[in-house]
Amino acid sequence: MWDDIVQWLDERAGVREFWKVTMSRKIPEVNWFYTLGSTTMVVALLQGLTGILLTSYYVPTPEDAYGSIQYIVHDVTLGAYIRGMHHWGASFMVALVFLHMLRVYYMGAYKYPRELTWVVGVFLLIFTLGSGFTGYLLPWDQKAYWATTVGTNIGGVTPFIGPWVKEILRGTSDVSGVTLARFYGFHVWLLPSLLYPFIGLHLYLVIRNGITNPPSRDE
Ligand code: HEM
Repeated sequence: MWDDIVQWLDERAGVREFWKVTMSRKIPEVNWFYTLGSTTMVVALLQGLTGILLTSYYVPTPEDAYGSIQYIVHDVTLGAYIRGMHHWGASFMVALVFLHMLRVYYMGAYKYPRELTWVVGVFLLIFTLGSGFTGYLLPWDQKAYWATTVGTNIGGVTPFIGPWVKEILRGTSDVSGVTLARFYGFHVWLLPSLLYPFIGLHLYLVIRNGITNPPSRDE
């Protein structure tokens, strides 16, 4: 039965070849540091899943944002668990992406022919940090409000384009309901629609170029 399904799909979509190239491909003898990229990817997928679940109760307005999070945490079945995963997952993802980048840097894995993998990675880093920054405002409590005030002020002192950056981020002169709507839009639409396709591109390049050998003393 299972074989028949696979056979049917293979004739029409080449699933065996796809599996061979992605999952059964040969890789060098690597160490645990090489798992940091995949771990980041798993956390990214969990962030997407728990984020979608949270949007079914979260209300992105100044009147209801704080209360909707309280409702999720105290009243919704498994709400505290899902929110906790998303909250802690954000910090884990930032830490993991940096550790993965350090491993790539220290092992010289950014060199030819993997420069483009690195550049796509830099975009992934920006999208990850952007998701953390925009998500931080969404609980709409004192910590969120003032962290965003400080964060957008920092953007505001960028040489030459500072005032423009601040205005784009805040939408109004102070952090307001417009900022909340804007950050929500960035957080649930703009950044995920860039992050996940870029992860796909990153993986394509990783598979296309193969993984580096861990550097050895003999070399
Ligand atoms: C959401 C963030 C990211 C995800 C999900 C991700 C995922 C992965 C995965 C699964 C691999 C395969 C090997 C491994 O796990 O080490 C990899 C390799 C690689 N990544 Fe990332 N990555 C991310 C961010 C970055 C960043 C920020 C950089 C650098 C600025 C980067 C540069 C590279 C390079 C150059 C390789 C090839 C390494 C080799 O061939 O040994 N990645 N990435």
